[in-house]
Amino acid sequence: MNELLNPNVIDLVPYKPGKPIEDLQREFNLEKVIKLASNENPAGVPLHVSEAIKNEISNLNLYPDSDSYYLKKRIAEYNHIDIENVIVGAGSVELIRMIVKAFLKPGQTVLTSAKTFVFYKVATIEEAGKNAYIEAPMGDDYTFDLDAMFKLIDNNTKIIFVTNPNNPTGTMVPKEKVLDFINKVPKDKIIVLDNAYQEYVNNPDNYLDGINEAVKGRNIIVLRTFSKIYALSGMRIAYAISNIETISNLNRVKAPFNVARLSQVAAIASLENDEFKIKAAALNQKNKEKLFHQLQQTGVRVIPSEANFLMFIPSSKFSVNKIDELLLREGVIIRPLQGFGVPEALRVTVGFEEENDYFIEKFKKVLQILAG
Ligand SMILES: Cc1ncc(COP(=O)(O)O)c(C=O)c1O
Repeated sequence: MNELLNPNVIDLVPYKPGKPIEDLQREFNLEKVIKLASNENPAGVPLHVSEAIKNEISNLNLYPDSDSYYLKKRIAEYNHIDIENVIVGAGSVELIRMIVKAFLKPGQTVLTSAKTFVFYKVATIEEAGKNAYIEAPMGDDYTFDLDAMFKLIDNNTKIIFVTNPNNPTGTMVPKEKVLDFINKVPKDKIIVLDNAYQEYVNNPDNYLDGINEAVKGRNIIVLRTFSKIYALSGMRIAYAISNIETISNLNRVKAPFNVARLSQVAAIASLENDEFKIKAAALNQKNKEKLFHQLQQTGVRVIPSEANFLMFIPSSKFSVNKIDELLLREGVIIRPLQGFGVPEALRVTVGFEEENDYFIEKFKKVLQILAG
């Protein structure tokens, strides 16, 4: 059967997202199930955004604007840049794929850190095979080690992904270190700053969003998504900011009509004002602090997080997969991190306070069962 496959693809396994709530309800006959597995915003879609979506429904017989003009215009205004500095995609994952497709030449490599978002690997391997993907080690603090990454840069390195804050560890590299890295890396490399969780950062003064550097003409691409703080995961919509030439090159590999009508109007409405975003960030911060302490009290190691999730490491006496399995039986879906290269850890998304408390109650029960 495999002889039909593109040989690059043989090494890939299908992406396994967190279990859907409905599947778990059916499987264990559970009435209550909570899902804190995919770093979604628990607050739901803001009213003015759902109104905009409803108003667009009658136009669904028509293709969307292939160029997403009005959305790009709004994104440009919002970020104080030009429309030519923006491209939009069906989620950051589409943009990641486009970046690799547009810029990775045969023999060149993609560099990132171990213990990060898995899609960089998928996009690289499908395009260029597994030898094209290089991971630098991550330190014991579970933070991107930009010095270790810098040491691995060679003539073949073409694209460098820096995830800040990082998923699944939640850690952030401070502004000065990112700037220093950007300034050191040779200009013929493309640095992608994946800022999916930027809005959750605890101290924005210590954070580099990279937009100024990206539009200046350096080879930097900034990725932003509507899936997290804007609560539009289901819409599949994200954007990239870079210099005009890089954006125009990305347009060469953009599929026609790549962003649906409903996604375009929803994203435009999301950028109308920052009220929802500010409230969501504040609520996340408050709930994250409480959850951090609750988790610490259970005896696990919790990694301080700058995002909307917490990674924690239980005692090595307990199997992470067993914890996950027992939590599922209790109706709680979180994320074991083997697939992210962190087999010793689990990740829980910060939900509403009641959801977090429910998770903690069930987690304590599971630890008790395992302690026998
Ligand atoms: C670091 C990072 N980048 C990108 C994405 C994908 O986001 P999108 O929904 O925009 O495809 C995620 C999703 O979890 C992520 O964690």
